[in-house]
Amino acid sequence: MQKTAKEDLNRLRQLASFTASRILLTANAFRIFDHLEEPGKTALQLSRKLSTDKRATELLLNSLVALSLLKKIKGTYKNAALASQYLVSGKPDYQGDIISHYNVLWDNWSGLNTVLKTGKPFKKSFDHRSFIMGMHNLSVPRVSDVLRHINLRGVTRVLDLGGGPGTYSIAFAKKNIHVTLMDYPETLKIAKKLIIKAGVKTRIRLLPGDFCTDDLGNGYDLIFISHIFHAYSAKASVSILKKSCRALNRGGRVVVQEFLLHETRTSPLSGALFAINMLVNTMGGRTYTPTEIGSWLKQSGYIAVRKAINDDYVFMNGRKK
Ligand SMILES: C[S@@+](CC[C@H](N)C(=O)[O-])C[C@H]1O[C@@H](n2cnc3c(N)ncnc32)[C@H](O)[C@@H]1O
Repeated sequence: MQKTAKEDLNRLRQLASFTASRILLTANAFRIFDHLEEPGKTALQLSRKLSTDKRATELLLNSLVALSLLKKIKGTYKNAALASQYLVSGKPDYQGDIISHYNVLWDNWSGLNTVLKTGKPFKKSFDHRSFIMGMHNLSVPRVSDVLRHINLRGVTRVLDLGGGPGTYSIAFAKKNIHVTLMDYPETLKIAKKLIIKAGVKTRIRLLPGDFCTDDLGNGYDLIFISHIFHAYSAKASVSILKKSCRALNRGGRVVVQEFLLHETRTSPLSGALFAINMLVNTMGGRTYTPTEIGSWLKQSGYIAVRKAINDDYVFMNGRKK
């Protein structure tokens, strides 16, 4: 077989394969990496700790070695560097919560065939904690980069709309800004713990509520709307932007962070695939192009609309007239 044909076939099979993903999701669900940090363990020792089947455990551990997530030395298994840095709970770069969230999404994505016929979400599973802590895992490595995209000159009061775990609220508060973090009450319980741990409790006010139906308060210099619109329709997004405009001080600004989607709607890969996540999990959500978000801003009472792109994310901002 020619080299290119062989490469094409490999790529196709890789696209169709789910095995590596499923193995990692299961290993993470059983917190295998917490147990194999120090010292290493045999399959039998681990299966006793986890109350799992010995044969199944050994096969899973071997596959994790093949995936370079574990090392096997004289019959004992230990985390490899990647697992040690990202998959052990409590470590600063921990990604286990977002992987737990992907485990939940697995159930929902298994309904994609049905969704394609019905056009309706297939939301079989949901776990609020892994969703919210997963957002924290995703934001922690990016937060200082994101803040560099936001002009905070003269800003003393920020509303973090749907601020989730409060990762961005905490970063604003560390810059001596007073923040209102609005989200559902069950989210705020999780955010509160992170805020206390970060030592910025006095500068963050928690506002429980639904931002579609409840009052947002007022007097804000800046409203940060990060990763909200992709879960909503264009119509709902415009209504959120109009409501936010009313809550801003004159000259105040809204900053929107979203997954980037180019005008073709087929790239980058992250934005194009995330649209399917929203198709499966929400009623009217998808990813949007900067032109779409820019036009919503203009029709919602904002001027001087600007765009900035950072990796696979877009930042749109506008000033209240
Ligand atoms: C994808 S997360 C984004 C969290 C955070 N803004 C970030 O960028 O990391 C969406 C957040 O919006 C919250 N949310 C969505 N709809 C909401 C609503 N109608 N009212 C209040 N919070 C809402 C969710 O609870 C969740 O915390």
